Amino acid sequence: MGQISLRYVDLKGVIAPGELEERCRGAAPILKRMAEGDPKYADFTGWRTVDETAGPARVDYLLQEAERVRRDADAFVVIGIGGSNQASRAAIKALRPKDGPAILWAGNTISAAEMARTLEELDGCRSVYIDCIAKNFETLEPGIAFRVLRQYLEKRYGEQEAAKRIFATGTPGSTLHQLCKDHGYTFLTFPERVGGRFSVLSDVGLFPMAVAGVDIRAVTAGMREMRDRLFSEPAENNLALRYACIRKLLLEKGYAMEMLSFFEPRLNYFAKWWVQTFAESEGKENTALYPIVSSNSEDLHAVGQYVQQGRPILFETFLRVEARDASVVLPHEEKKDYFDYLEDKDFWDINEAAREGTFAAHSQRGIPCLEFTLPAIDAHTLGQLYYYFIFACCLSCELLGVNPFDQPGVEAYKHEMFQRLGKPGKEK
Ligand code: PA5
Repeated sequence: MGQISLRYVDLKGVIAPGELEERCRGAAPILKRMAEGDPKYADFTGWRTVDETAGPARVDYLLQEAERVRRDADAFVVIGIGGSNQASRAAIKALRPKDGPAILWAGNTISAAEMARTLEELDGCRSVYIDCIAKNFETLEPGIAFRVLRQYLEKRYGEQEAAKRIFATGTPGSTLHQLCKDHGYTFLTFPERVGGRFSVLSDVGLFPMAVAGVDIRAVTAGMREMRDRLFSEPAENNLALRYACIRKLLLEKGYAMEMLSFFEPRLNYFAKWWVQTFAESEGKENTALYPIVSSNSEDLHAVGQYVQQGRPILFETFLRVEARDASVVLPHEEKKDYFDYLEDKDFWDINEAAREGTFAAHSQRGIPCLEFTLPAIDAHTLGQLYYYFIFACCLSCELLGVNPFDQPGVEAYKHEMFQRLGKPGKEK
């Protein structure tokens, strides 16, 4: 199996020679603490070993439950928001497994139009199953979507049959757990010591992937491989620490944004997961890089202008994919459209030229450019990437001096919203 690698090109010398290595050496104790399990974060790092929350026996169980759904369902609705749905959506959209039920997403918006559209879509499906994922079942979006979809299933199939079609993933002892016990829904575990955006290494991320047909044994194998690598690579060469230190150095040198750039739109939802991981973990105490995305070549025709000639406030992190997994060749054409110079060329190679050209143009402008080379877009590589970015994000938070595992800032809008909605205890 191929390994992920990272290169850094900095034609303006923003980071001086030796500066990165020195920073990595200085941060070695942080790496050691994170790899060994920092006691101060013991309540939040259930994901660290992979095996605690996504060991082989658990994966077998999830595959068995998923098979029950796959045998019967033609639609499976994942209800959840933020950390509860982003990782599985990212993998399913990137890998596009073909033989499973249609996967729908709910509880990630309060848009009436979206809820109505989902119900309409379900009316056209033969057999519907749902999974409500919510850590403590206090979040408004999944809470109200679950109520609507539960009642939809009960009306359509009757209470007893509906119960067989309802999964809920929550913390043991939560209201969601109680609902499952009272009404016979299948309960899956949202591990106590794992926060939403770190939950890909658990039932939360893995069960929807398994229902869709993603090879979750390969995902978890990739996670373990990356874990072993990051725990053993010395500080100066550590793939995650180098990335975290480059980010920190560039932040100190005045860069405000990191832009994740890629040329495979199937990574769009992976990029959303990446944005959430970094923004919600790091964006505290008036510091941190603002994570943004460029899905190319489309966005080169939009933000590309700003990147080349706008304020020099961002650096770029490219994702480059090695394995060719598709091919479309431009055919011969008699009509004069003036694209003959591309005749017989594969879209894959044309896209590669766009990627290389973009990297060259942006780095020549003086933009610090990082590039991750991914062996492929497959389940094993995605597993590596999930573990990698989670681990790197924790290191990065430590370098910033912020707690990776809380998100106090999201309470402000909720407070205002709850006042307007008259939530008991939150009235004006
Ligand atoms: O990363 C996080 O902790 C958040 O993004 C949560 O996942 C999100 O707010 C949903 O929370 P819950 O699972 O409790 O509904």
